Amino acid sequence: MPITIIIGAQWGDEGKGRVVDWLAASADIVARYAGGDNAGHTVALDGEVYKLHLVPSGILHSDVVSVMGNGMVINPVNLVREIKALRNLGLSITPERLVISARAHIITPGHIALDKAKEMSLGDAKIGTTLRGIGPAYLDKTGRAGIRTGDMLLDVEEFADRLVTGIEATNTELGRQGIGTLDAREAAGEYLEAAAFLKPFIKDVSIFLDQALKAGKNVVCEGAQGTMLDVDHGSYPFVTSSSPTAGGALTGLGVGPLFVEKVLGVAKAFSTRVGGGPMPTELDGELAQRLRGSGANFWDEFGTTTGRPRRCGWLDVAMLRYAASVNGLSEIMLTKLDILSGFDELKLATAYEIDGVRHEYPPVTNEELERAKPVYESLPGWREEISGCRHFSDLPKAAQAYVSRVSELCDVPINSVSVGPERDQLVLRGA
Ligand code: GDP
Ligand code: IMO
Ligand code: MG
Repeated sequence: MPITIIIGAQWGDEGKGRVVDWLAASADIVARYAGGDNAGHTVALDGEVYKLHLVPSGILHSDVVSVMGNGMVINPVNLVREIKALRNLGLSITPERLVISARAHIITPGHIALDKAKEMSLGDAKIGTTLRGIGPAYLDKTGRAGIRTGDMLLDVEEFADRLVTGIEATNTELGRQGIGTLDAREAAGEYLEAAAFLKPFIKDVSIFLDQALKAGKNVVCEGAQGTMLDVDHGSYPFVTSSSPTAGGALTGLGVGPLFVEKVLGVAKAFSTRVGGGPMPTELDGELAQRLRGSGANFWDEFGTTTGRPRRCGWLDVAMLRYAASVNGLSEIMLTKLDILSGFDELKLATAYEIDGVRHEYPPVTNEELERAKPVYESLPGWREEISGCRHFSDLPKAAQAYVSRVSELCDVPINSVSVGPERDQLVLRGA
């Protein structure tokens, strides 16, 4: 019966993909509820690295049904490309294994052009979006001008007309900004092919999930992005345009709250952010380099979707405390603890000081967040390599103390810690 919701507790890239892959072993359904191909979720299995942007991270389990919810914005051409690439890696992706909501919104080439134009016009104040057309697609959705995945079930000519009308509307806007417009008919061509491919996958996801839940199935809801990128609760306007927080799972899939049993927040053992906006614990120089890595390993801090180097800093526990509150986290899972091996000293931001006043949670405005000075607590580091540890008691005492202190400061249990990107590189407390 129950639902477990997986949430990014920071600015995205916390390791949600690997956590979902792990939990999918005991799930029947993995359902993604927000965002589009701005997401990049990595799952490492037996030496193969899968980078998923749209397809849910349960897809590596042959007995799990993957669901893409109405809360998502989907670029059908990129989705077909991703499905074909996964098939080439030997995965079976059929309409029995992948169900796409008929109520998700479609990202058109016009949305992508508008995303680029908007970012260019903002200059230094740009958001640093992934340029995938996410914001403009959600804008059309809330503006009641969007095209939905269910429209791909229509007669080809009817769908083509809707696409062309949508792209022509964005052309008007592009023209106003003095930017080259798109040939709407030509741009629509690839979409018609993608629609023919995707038709058999499209269903009413809400009804599908309700029936599955009533039949006792286990559903893992896969969040994308993170709490601080949430359009309502994040560091607005440096956010994405959707709702990655726990409430987004309910609206983004059309399921009722009483099925939810657990809300698991995924947090990296340090902080990262990609794109613009305030980041109180950001480091530069050697410490940041050590957290980021050189780029030689696939898990180093370079964007899965855009390849941009991620900004890195100490763990911001005040922000984690906020994520625990906004999402009602029942548990936190800490990832990439292995990266902290070798530091003499580790710091945790336990609160902020703003204009001489202590704050236990991030302030609402970015102006204040920009001025927030982290109040640091220093903890001893550890030298040992920990990626082979599997039990909490195997970890060096200093690593155990670090995890316990984070849990204590947020007042949320931490029962699992990941110490490497592979499925089995997990430390379970009490195991
Ligand atoms: P997501 O967007 O939240 O799914 O996270 P990403 O896939 O964008 O980024 C997380 C990166 O960290 C990926 O390359 C993962 O393979 C990697 N990763 C996840 N957990 C661990 C861990 O415990 N240790 C190490 N070294 N890498 C990890
Ligand atoms: P996953 O699911 C990290 C960031 C972008 C930018 C802002 C808005 O892999 O954790 P958008 O293209 O959504 O309009 O960009 O949000 N962003 C992410 N950062 N991980 C992600 O996804 C992100 N998706 C969007 O960098 O700052
Ligand atoms: Mg990512």
